[in-house]
Amino acid sequence: MSKPFLSIEQLTQRYPDGQGGEFTVFENATFGIEKGEFVCILGHSGCGKSTIMNILAGLSEPTSGVVKMDGQHVSGPSLDRGVVFQNYSLLPWLSALKNVTFGVAARFPDWDKAKVVEHSTAFLAKVGLTGDTIHRKPSQLSGGMRQRVSIARAFANEPKLLLLDEPFGALDALTRGTIQEELIKVWKDTDQTVFMITHDIDEAILLADRILLMTNGPLAQVAENVEITIPRPRVRNDIVEHPNYYAIRNHLVHFLAKRSAELSGKSSDRNSPATVRFDLTGETATEDPETAPLLRAVQA
Ligand SMILES: Nc1ncnc2c1ncn2[C@@H]1O[C@H](COP(=O)(O)OP(=O)(O)OP(=O)(O)O)[C@@H](O)[C@H]1O
Ligand SMILES: [Mg+2]
Repeated sequence: MSKPFLSIEQLTQRYPDGQGGEFTVFENATFGIEKGEFVCILGHSGCGKSTIMNILAGLSEPTSGVVKMDGQHVSGPSLDRGVVFQNYSLLPWLSALKNVTFGVAARFPDWDKAKVVEHSTAFLAKVGLTGDTIHRKPSQLSGGMRQRVSIARAFANEPKLLLLDEPFGALDALTRGTIQEELIKVWKDTDQTVFMITHDIDEAILLADRILLMTNGPLAQVAENVEITIPRPRVRNDIVEHPNYYAIRNHLVHFLAKRSAELSGKSSDRNSPATVRFDLTGETATEDPETAPLLRAVQA
């Protein structure tokens, strides 16, 4: 089988525990992401999601293991990988537009100024920012607007991989819903590959092609790969009617409420997450034979 676009192989992260020893955040995390996929990762606070993302971004080095993108080792930050942090991290002294043009000009050094501005303005418009608003500085924007700017900035650079760390964590439900729709629209328009951390199960079901589930740390594992067998386009109010919706949702809730703790600290003999796939549209659930025992245990 050919290697996926992004491959994470045997990733382990250990940190000093502050008492002369060390603790293992996660061990042997192994998974792949295909080009154009939208993958979410869910897990409790502290299990190591941001640590994984920082390694994928090239912002930190794992204790052991490798990350390869397009067959190349990831080391150090690169314009090929765009990151949206939870806290927006816009440059406060630049306007919304300049926060976007800054990166675009670096990414496309051959473009003249007019083309950079046109491209950046188009991406801001995709997330609903037009007119005078784009000339305001971050301090003059609402939290939702700031997060829109950071999403526009990341997509406008057209990276090969977009990494989003709980991008909507600080937003109210209404704004969150609107920006989720905008995010999906930009992702569809641009065919980019997205890896997103979220705490929100419903958000993950709405957005993702598949969801990776992490057990609790320390010694966390990427234990499961849950396919979201709900066709796109997905509309928030309609997906709850889909026959697979509650099967998927209940599985995720059960994992986070119980199994993430039960499996915590246990090393697994698998070297990639078990695939879980619900399809009740044909009246029967399809189980990957590899994961059948696990699924039966879950559904008991
Ligand atoms: N530089 C560091 N040095 C020591 N320990 C660290 C460092 N960075 C993270 N940790 C520890 O690693 C663990 C995982 O942290 P991480 O930020 O990846 O969690 P997370 O899953 O993103 O949590 P949250 O959902 O709260 O954002 C935590 O126990 C944290 O204290
Ligand atoms: Mg985090």
